[in-house]
Amino acid sequence: MSIQDQRVVVLGGTSGIGLATARLAAGSGATVIVASSNPDSVERALGELPASVTGTALDLTDTAAVSAFFADLEPIDHLVYTAGESLTLVDARAMDLDRARTAFELRYFALLHTVSAASGKFRPGGSITLTTGTAADRPGPGWSVAASVCGAMDALTRSLAVELAPIRVNAVKPGVVRTPLWPEGFDYEAAGDSLPVGRIGEPEDIAAAYVFLMDQPYASGSILTVGGGNVLV
Ligand SMILES: NC(=O)c1ccc[n+]([C@@H]2O[C@H](COP(=O)([O-])OP(=O)(O)OC[C@H]3O[C@@H](n4cnc5c(N)ncnc54)[C@H](OP(=O)(O)O)[C@@H]3O)[C@@H](O)[C@H]2O)c1
Repeated sequence: MSIQDQRVVVLGGTSGIGLATARLAAGSGATVIVASSNPDSVERALGELPASVTGTALDLTDTAAVSAFFADLEPIDHLVYTAGESLTLVDARAMDLDRARTAFELRYFALLHTVSAASGKFRPGGSITLTTGTAADRPGPGWSVAASVCGAMDALTRSLAVELAPIRVNAVKPGVVRTPLWPEGFDYEAAGDSLPVGRIGEPEDIAAAYVFLMDQPYASGSILTVGGGNVLV
């Protein structure tokens, strides 16, 4: 099992979990392409990643641009979707429906279109790895919308694994990970203290799960929780 010489596209691969996944995949010998919406983020990421990695600016909520991206792309082996925005925490007793709907745009609707646009591009043995989150299983107050997005990802992973077969479809379910997603001032140490492993996750911890699911030819419909035991406490 190896992703050496395989073509891997990481959408959202310019920051946090996606950037670490792109770095690990490239270090494992894969040919990696990263994309995200901000050209400066793409340029900065390419400066940090191995020289073999290429990248492009692509707003995943722009369906025409996503269709054009995949139409121009050579066949690929693996697609990873880590694109996400800042957390949408809203009070369920004073629900802001516009914010709730917006929370689904990138992680759900843009993903649905992306999968559709990419579906004809996979070489045999190919896979798609999505990103969900332990909020689906252990939500806190204010998390009804964010947890619902994760629950939708869980269901979509299983459904696509059936519908797109033989393309394998899996998801990584991170707990709290140190990335720019969290608001400034978020207390990572306090969040880590309460966990069985005594710390929060680093992007590299989570990247290993994506590479495992790309590599593992018998995994489909799998949702791999990597949360330091946070769903248990
Ligand atoms: N960090 C955690 O604790 C945690 C826990 C559970 C789940 N997750 C999920 O894991 C995923 C990755 O999160 P992260 O923590 O790595 O976040 P991050 O560091 O903020 O990275 C998010 C990535 O998404 C890209 N992006 C945002 N809007 C986009 C758009 N419209 N089109 C294309 N790319 C876009 C960003 O680049 P641009 O700004 O250039 O577009 C960036 O590369 C998210 O879905 C997040 O919800 C994170």
